[in-house]
Amino acid sequence: MADTDNVKEAKNFYPEVPTENKPFFLKGSNALGWGMQNRLSRVFNPRSGRTVMLAIDHGYFMGPTTGLERVDINIVPLLGDCTALMLTRGMLRSTISSSFGGGVVIRASGGPSILKELSNEQIAVGIEDAVRMNVSAMAVQVFIGGEFESQSIHNLTRLVDLGNKYGLPILAVTAVGKDMNRDAKYLRLACRICAELGAHILKTYYVPEGFETVTASCPVPIVMAGGKKLPELDALKMAHDAVDQGACGVDMGRNIFQSDSSSAMIQAVGKVVHEGMKPQQAYQLYQDLKNEQSQVVVDG
Ligand code: R5P
Repeated sequence: MADTDNVKEAKNFYPEVPTENKPFFLKGSNALGWGMQNRLSRVFNPRSGRTVMLAIDHGYFMGPTTGLERVDINIVPLLGDCTALMLTRGMLRSTISSSFGGGVVIRASGGPSILKELSNEQIAVGIEDAVRMNVSAMAVQVFIGGEFESQSIHNLTRLVDLGNKYGLPILAVTAVGKDMNRDAKYLRLACRICAELGAHILKTYYVPEGFETVTASCPVPIVMAGGKKLPELDALKMAHDAVDQGACGVDMGRNIFQSDSSSAMIQAVGKVVHEGMKPQQAYQLYQDLKNEQSQVVVDG
């Protein structure tokens, strides 16, 4: 029984201090439920409002691509430097420790391999399994203008219905077919369609001309897709320009895990994204960290 003797009587209800009613930190996400917002707070860093999402889901259609041959060796050491990890449930369960504290964005669409028509995807993860893994968001590829456009949009809307029911955000990845113009006009169309249909987060490519119109016309957060491997300075410039023009972070894969020093690169990207470091300074940091690491190997 609780001890009721000598209970301190003085209480302070701070009647002069109004209860704070802060808006949620992410664009377009204020009306979402507590569970959904809590999950978004694991995908995005609430202090910076941005994310360094490390994308390693490529194996779901490409198999063991360069840099991802051994996720246990090449990727696990980077986990402390990402805000969130984007991957398949197979790789999550087999290779990532359940004590990982960052956000987990699970690849939830799939089907065709690189040998077939890529837009012919289906939903590839059940919502109950996503809840069982305690993931922070589910990712679905949307092929606007692609052969199976409607089917991929149906995958998105089905997942949005389920995500809203269970409090799980849905990230729509805008895939750009080989024969399409990767320009602001196309990306505005693709991102806006996905947001209108209920996606909570968008992943799309950066374009040098008019990217700010893509972010401005999309009512929910956009994260920049990395794309094919670029020289490190160019990748850092691209990340810098994307967040400067309204992206809420990056979702990068090959530009990190195919770098000569993936650990140095992810730290440099983190400085750009979360602290607004200029690309040249971040590149210097990348080189310094890379040199330190090679020194450790030589000395060791
Ligand atoms: C496919 O389109 C996927 O979203 C990727 O597997 C991945 O997330 C792409 O990452 P990156 O282009 O930065 O290597």
